[in-house]
Amino acid sequence: MKYSAPKGVFDILPTSSEPEDLWKRSDLWQSLESMAREVAHQYGFQEIRTPIFEKTELFVRSVGESSDIVNKEMFSFVDKGGRSMTLRPEGTASVIRSIIEHRQYETCYSKFFYIGPMFRYERPQAGRYRQLHQFGAEAIGDPSPYQEVEVIDMLCEFYKRCGLQNLRVLVNSVGDPASRNAYVEKLRAYLKPHLAQLSEESQIRFDKNPLRILDSKDPIDQKILEQAPLLLDSLNQECAQHFEEVCLLLRQNGIAYTVSDKLVRGLDYYNKTVFEILSEETGPQATLVGGGRYDGLMQELGGPALPSVGFATGLERLLQLMIRQNSPALPKRQGPLVYLVPMGDAAHHFCFKLLSDLRHACIAAEIARPKTKIQKALQFADAIQSTYALIIGDDEMSQQKAQCKVLSTRESQSIEFAQIVSFFKKHKE
Ligand code: HAM
Repeated sequence: MKYSAPKGVFDILPTSSEPEDLWKRSDLWQSLESMAREVAHQYGFQEIRTPIFEKTELFVRSVGESSDIVNKEMFSFVDKGGRSMTLRPEGTASVIRSIIEHRQYETCYSKFFYIGPMFRYERPQAGRYRQLHQFGAEAIGDPSPYQEVEVIDMLCEFYKRCGLQNLRVLVNSVGDPASRNAYVEKLRAYLKPHLAQLSEESQIRFDKNPLRILDSKDPIDQKILEQAPLLLDSLNQECAQHFEEVCLLLRQNGIAYTVSDKLVRGLDYYNKTVFEILSEETGPQATLVGGGRYDGLMQELGGPALPSVGFATGLERLLQLMIRQNSPALPKRQGPLVYLVPMGDAAHHFCFKLLSDLRHACIAAEIARPKTKIQKALQFADAIQSTYALIIGDDEMSQQKAQCKVLSTRESQSIEFAQIVSFFKKHKE
């Protein structure tokens, strides 16, 4: 029996055998994750780690019964105690549940970020996986438009550091529940005479969640929607003014954006501002991030009525775009600083202790396996991108000096055994 990973999931490995799998290389993931942590730290977000499964009810209540996620994409199971559990399809619900449970809103921290896997039973295709990874952030307690613009600014800065170009920031307002309900009625009245021409999916949404029809990619639906009433025209004064202020602050921060009046997002918890950032190299999987304001969720889940804003960006899509755009931020692989090449048993014995001394001095070091031929050992040192090779054979053992080669130039110098650790400490950068 041969085993392979289930459909729609993938392994993250130290090397990639195919060029199209480069984005699955673990050093690229580590580098992206540390860039995310750094930017989050600089914007004052603290890390939160929640379990990867929760009670199913949490996602039904927050993401929404009519959403695609809850309807068809959850990995749910019944545990041995007969309770329905679900692998988290997104992070927001878990973060808010945890903040309420641990009364984190009473502490001095109100901004949280997370990096981790999410699970959605979607049809796998490029840029769409069943185990996906998100860098997300949730800011609690600030009802002002500054909060939206702070998180959008953080995202733009993050993408800039990722070396990405040609991105579009789309913003819209979905108003408050009252103005949205009024709009839904207007939209239904407009769509009703066209119902038979709408795609099958939109016909289903007409009853369940007509707002999502605005998201339809079907060309006939899109044609019909051209004349549809606009959500932005149905906003009450407070929501309209809030949105205007968000746009003003975006301009003030030098963030170019487009108001996308059909942007509604697929999760039910949003109100007021929603946003997405996508690559101009279009394609259905071009959306890098989705987010927005969700002022009602905390209360809905049994907590205090605290307004919140957040986003989540998919790391797979991000890395794929960085590779497509040949981003200068893609890290060069870091090999060990020193590769020890002992020739003979006595040298190996000596090098094994030296290896440990180097590592104890915080120097990344590796050693060739016993009895490896020198040429093979040097080839391996090159392959793992080591900076130096330290060759020690019988002659070096009798002279108590090692031969140190810079692998990129093949220049050599000799170093006294007693100086080896301090030499590499100095050359650690
Ligand atoms: P979302 O739009 O469902 O929002 O997902 C956010 C991002 O996750 C997407 O823009 C995409 O980059 C990535 N993503 C989603 N599904 C997949 C998939 N199947 N394969 C690969 N990447 C995927 C949320 O998850 C909200 N929780 C965002 C949020 C946080 N809103 C407020 N706070």
